[in-house]
Amino acid sequence: MTKTGLSAGCFITFEGGEGVGKSTQIRLLADRLKAAGHRVTISREPGGTPGAEAIRHVLLDQAAVESFGPAMEAVLFAAARNDHVEQVIRPALERGEIALVDRFIDSTRVYQGASGRLDQRFIGMLERVAIDGIAPDLTIILDLDPEIGLARAAQRRGKGTGEDRFERETLTIHRARRTAFQAIAVAEPERCRLIDAVGKADEIADRVWQSIAADLPPPSADTMIAAASP
Ligand code: TYD
Repeated sequence: MTKTGLSAGCFITFEGGEGVGKSTQIRLLADRLKAAGHRVTISREPGGTPGAEAIRHVLLDQAAVESFGPAMEAVLFAAARNDHVEQVIRPALERGEIALVDRFIDSTRVYQGASGRLDQRFIGMLERVAIDGIAPDLTIILDLDPEIGLARAAQRRGKGTGEDRFERETLTIHRARRTAFQAIAVAEPERCRLIDAVGKADEIADRVWQSIAADLPPPSADTMIAAASP
């Protein structure tokens, strides 16, 4: 590949609303890729580096953040993203690995843009600074009715633990986010694969694999040699 301008590596992001099953699908895809001889790096946003995890804590755990407003929030997500790109994603791609990242630019476009009503030009400027040329080659958008997703997220958290700041928002907002993710898939069909996230995890994993298998780079030669050696 890649649109990143690097000679090796492939950058795949996973996107979607709350509880759509991104982390499960990333794990299942990583297993398949490794079995096929690829080297894989897994990471998530906001987070992925010590500095970005500190910003994650501020953004998701503090009630006070609701008073920040979408612009400040978007700047913080962008700061975390830039650190993550430079410390984790770019080096992984330069090593020829496949980077699987849980949420990236589309989450900002949807959560701060569509549902935060922030100007898309402002989001676009932040995006350019944050990613500095490292754009996803492929984006898997897991599509699910938010009522099902929120129930899954609540189940995963277990009883007695609180929702994060974004999960607490109304069903209308979660529905608007689903529509915004679908619109991105329509607008950027080369990069995005919209995957029906209803069903068993293995079935969804098959859908994900079928949607991207033809676009993956060949496994790097050194992993093939290692796999072939006794
Ligand atoms: P997280 O606990 O990682 O949940 P999920 O499993 O849904 O990814 O929470 C991340 C939250 O941050 C999620 O509600 C989406 C939100 N978010 C943004 O609003 N903008 C962004 O740019 C990113 C990366 C995440």
